[in-house]
Amino acid sequence: MTPSRSLLFSLLSLVPLVASHGFVKQVIIDGQAYQGSIPGGTTNPSAIRQISTIDPVKGASNPSLNCGMNATLASDVANANPGSQIQIDWVGSSTGDSNWPHNTGPIMTYMAACDGSCATYDSANAEWFKISELGLLPGNTTWYQSLIMNGAMANVTIPGNIAPGNYLLRSELISLQLAVSEGGAEFYPSCTQLKIGGSQDGTPSSSDLVTFPGGYTDTEAGIYDPNIYNTPVDYDFPGPPVATLTAGSGAPAPSASSSPTGSGASSSSSASGSSSTSSTTTTSNSGASTSSSTTTSAGSSTSKGSAMCMLAPSSSGTSSSSMKRRHRLSHAKRRL
Ligand SMILES: *[C@@H]1O[C@H](CO)[C@@H](O)[C@H](O)[C@H]1NC(C)=O
Ligand SMILES: *[C@@H]1O[C@H](CO)[C@@H](O)[C@H](O)[C@H]1NC(C)=O
Ligand SMILES: *[C@@H]1O[C@H](CO)[C@@H](O)[C@H](O)[C@H]1NC(C)=O
Repeated sequence: MTPSRSLLFSLLSLVPLVASHGFVKQVIIDGQAYQGSIPGGTTNPSAIRQISTIDPVKGASNPSLNCGMNATLASDVANANPGSQIQIDWVGSSTGDSNWPHNTGPIMTYMAACDGSCATYDSANAEWFKISELGLLPGNTTWYQSLIMNGAMANVTIPGNIAPGNYLLRSELISLQLAVSEGGAEFYPSCTQLKIGGSQDGTPSSSDLVTFPGGYTDTEAGIYDPNIYNTPVDYDFPGPPVATLTAGSGAPAPSASSSPTGSGASSSSSASGSSSTSSTTTTSNSGASTSSSTTTSAGSSTSKGSAMCMLAPSSSGTSSSSMKRRHRLSHAKRRL
């Protein structure tokens, strides 16, 4: 063994290397919890679109950047309102029994109007606007994402003036621990199907809308970031700015719908197309069916060794020196 390789292996032995990423286990809307399905496992009735694996989406042109890896339509739609408080429970491991494993990178939330019920909406061409972005805590050395690694949920508030209608909520964590090299960023999107009530009139301007893929590039600051471990971190969020919703702005308002009066999911079989005030009744059903590719047994979703990711040493490991150590280790790992 050459000296450099033995150094490499001794460095690698210093940190836990965990073949474990994660997913959204549940979304809580104004206190009511909606459970998701285990990635690649049994498909349960849910408002959260199921993904096929806990492994990250890699590459800004990956079609799974839209709603997560091979995401499929969910059967239910959750009710929310302007100003609703949403908590998104990101967890780690293939069963969701561990904390989210990453602590470096932003937390962002987008919404997109569905054409008809989100339970039947193929989001490939959805036009997303950003409603929230969180990067570094004050001081610029520790990321909000580290709070999730410590067990917190991601929080977001539905814009208080958003027009009623059917919307997808796209929560996204980007893990940047390998983003010192191009293509290293790990994307974790998750979509929840909502029906927003109320009688507001806010819509985004068309300049704030992006598609996924399309909204990011592999080379932009915030995705490829050679200085990600140089503290204090100077971070530029990828994608569009957080949208300001205004009445009568450029983008078309989603189809109006009756106001949800309480919480609780409605199943698509009883809700789709039956809304009395919907003006757009033609829904594309070209998206994946909920049953076509998600019937693997729950026990089959073990994580893959080929997609191992590196864990930070500990939740408190946010000092400059530990950041730099991880930086060197990530270089070391990539040479394996
Ligand atoms: C996603 O779907 C594609 C196309 O069906 C398939 O080739 C690929 O293996 C799937 N990926 C995962 C991680 O399940
Ligand atoms: C979400 O809100 C809770 C309650 O205020 C807080 O403890 C938690 O840290 C927040 N999560 C993040 C990621 O900021
Ligand atoms: C933290 O980063 C922000 C955005 O890059 C910057 O405006 C601010 O000055 C930084 N603060 C510190 C303490 O470095």
